[in-house]
Order: sequence, then structure tokens, then C-alpha cells
Amino acid sequence: MSEQDFSDLYDFGKQIVNIPNLKYVDKIKKTVIAVIREYLNKEDLNDDDLLNNCHKYMKCEDLNELRLKIMNRLNSDTNSKENYYNAFKPIIHNIIGRNTAVQKRINLVVQFPGNNEITPMHSDVEDGDSPFELTFWLPLTPVYGSKSMYCLDKNFGGSIINLCAEKDKDLKKVTEEVVKPEHFVKMNYGEALLFNPLLLHGNIINETSETRWALNWRVKSIFSPYSFKNFGEYFEIYEMSPHTRLAMEYYKEKFNGSNGPNFN
Ligand SMILES: [Fe+2]
Repeated sequence: MSEQDFSDLYDFGKQIVNIPNLKYVDKIKKTVIAVIREYLNKEDLNDDDLLNNCHKYMKCEDLNELRLKIMNRLNSDTNSKENYYNAFKPIIHNIIGRNTAVQKRINLVVQFPGNNEITPMHSDVEDGDSPFELTFWLPLTPVYGSKSMYCLDKNFGGSIINLCAEKDKDLKKVTEEVVKPEHFVKMNYGEALLFNPLLLHGNIINETSETRWALNWRVKSIFSPYSFKNFGEYFEIYEMSPHTRLAMEYYKEKFNGSNGPNFN
């Protein structure tokens, strides 16, 4: 793979990328579809119909139950994290390095058309994430307009509290004022959005006729600062260079994300 330019990640705090090893995402998608198929008991539908038209085959009130079943399947099967990581491995090595900590659980967000349970504008940094994390937002179908999410760039700052104070308006009014159609991420299957947790993002009611399915997962350097989502509870070591592995053996399980050597 030729060296990719990640200057958008600095200039805007976000970048759409082609997934370097898509075959690994295909495997994750297959697992998701298998759970949906079992749940709906629909053998006759093709994969994309099952995803895009899921709202036609079940009640919205049961969606969370299905979502949790899928997340439990993905997270009880260690291959899913391995697949997620392998899908982006050249990018992770390029911009984070080879000493990586990953979020312990892969998240799934599903949005049926017309469902008014939306995620208001927020930054993950204000929810306890560290700006040293990188979020890999991975839709399983094409996303566009309100079937997608919006993501502002870094010029809007990293704090919804500050933005509301600066504009002297409440969250709803600020959202109406600043979110423009171009902030909705448009991507095909095979692409992913990388974004810094300091960016303001959210969604609105999905007014398209299709269901949105998107996974998200965070990766950071083992040695970059953590926020409230700490090492051990929320993040776990995924990959270490031989040099780091030796140092960690010296720590004997006592590394907490920021402590110095332990001489006891
Ligand atoms: Fe978020």
C-alpha cells in the first residue's frame, strides 16, 4: 500500500478512508447478518435487504433487544476485534503505532427511519474519552443524509458546553444553526470515517426509507493519556512491539496506563 496522506485528520479532525483490508469487515458484517437472520427468522432475504429494510420486518420497540444480541455476539467472539483491527491495520500502524490499546467492546448503533430516539450533538471528549483516541466509524451499508450522522470539523471546538455559551443558545438551537447538509457523512460500504473524539457530532431523525447500521470502535496508543475511559476497565492492550513487551514483563501486570516503574 502506498503511503496515505492523513493531513485531513489534523486539518479537520476527521477523514474518510477506503478500508485497507475489506475482507475482514465482510466477516464482521456476516456475523451481524447471521444474528439478524436468526432473530427475524428470514431465510429468503438477501443481506442488504435484511439490513436496509430491517424496519419492515420487526417492531422498533424490539430493536434494542436485537442490537444487544448482535453486540454480545460480536464481543463474545474475539475474532470480531481481530477482524476490526486487521481491516485497518496499515492505518493504525501509520497514525497510532504498534503499541496499541483498543476499546474492550465494539459498539453498534442502529437507526430505523422515523425513530425519534436520536443522539444529540456532543463530543466524546466531554463524555470521558481522550483526544488521543481515534474513532473508527464503520457503516455496514451506504450512508447519506439523515441515514448517516453529522460530524463537524475541529473549527467548531471540542465542547458543546462552550459552543452553546458562546452563541448564547440552547443545544437544539445551536444544532439547527451550525449543522449543514455537508456535515452529514456520505460513504459507501468499504469506506470508514476516522474522527477525533473532540469533534462535535450526532444524528437527527432518519428521514430516508432505509435503516442505518454502523459500528464504532476506538484505538489509541497504550502510552497516550487516558481520560475517564481508562486503561483496564475500558481499554485493553491489543498489540505491542517486542521492546514494549519486554518492558511490560518488567511491570508484571502493574501498569495502569501512566505509572512509572515499580521496584517492589
Ligand atoms: Fe459520540
